[in-house]
Amino acid sequence: MLIGDYSGVFSLWKNMTGIGLDGLCDSRQGIRDYLRRNPGLSFVACDGKKIVGAVLSGHDGRRGCLHHLAVAGSHRKLGIGKALVEHCLKGLAGQNIPKCNIFLFRSNAIGRSFWKHNGWNLRTDLSIMQKGIRKQDADIC
Ligand SMILES: CC(C)(COP(=O)(O)OP(=O)(O)OC[C@H]1O[C@@H](n2cnc3c(N)ncnc32)[C@H](O)[C@@H]1OP(=O)(O)O)[C@@H](O)C(=O)NCCC(=O)NCCS
Repeated sequence: MLIGDYSGVFSLWKNMTGIGLDGLCDSRQGIRDYLRRNPGLSFVACDGKKIVGAVLSGHDGRRGCLHHLAVAGSHRKLGIGKALVEHCLKGLAGQNIPKCNIFLFRSNAIGRSFWKHNGWNLRTDLSIMQKGIRKQDADIC
């Protein structure tokens, strides 16, 4: 994924059930910054010129993280999602990152079943805790 893909990627993500967009991080500038910090680790799938799949990935030096894996409804069950994830994991492994996490809405049954089917384990011993860092985000949960 390159920043030039932004419009097509954003069109895919917006209004897609299971994908939660953040006004700052998912803006053009936010994605530009993300891709700069994590070069070569995020991917798109194209059908001709149309973007039909996308995923962001990066790492913090210890764990990888995948965000916003999405495949257009018209192109599901063709192996695109799996291929996008495999590209990310290959890139992360190449940087000696041993494990990868994903965030999944509890309500996302399709996503949960996809990840399970593809060998991802639900960590029931962990919870996510979060704090807004900027003043304007302080009350957001
Ligand atoms: C989840 C999603 C990305 C899957 O994409 P996809 O391209 O249809 O998946 P693939 O075709 O690559 O499937 C790979 C394998 O997973 C299986 N699979 C696909 N969707 C599945 C599902 N919902 N439940 C169980 N297995 C599933 C496929 O049958 C295939 O199995 P196989 O390798 O044994 O033949 C897609 O359904 C999607 O975009 N969902 C909405 C967004 C979303 O929830 N993303 C996850 C956010 S955490």
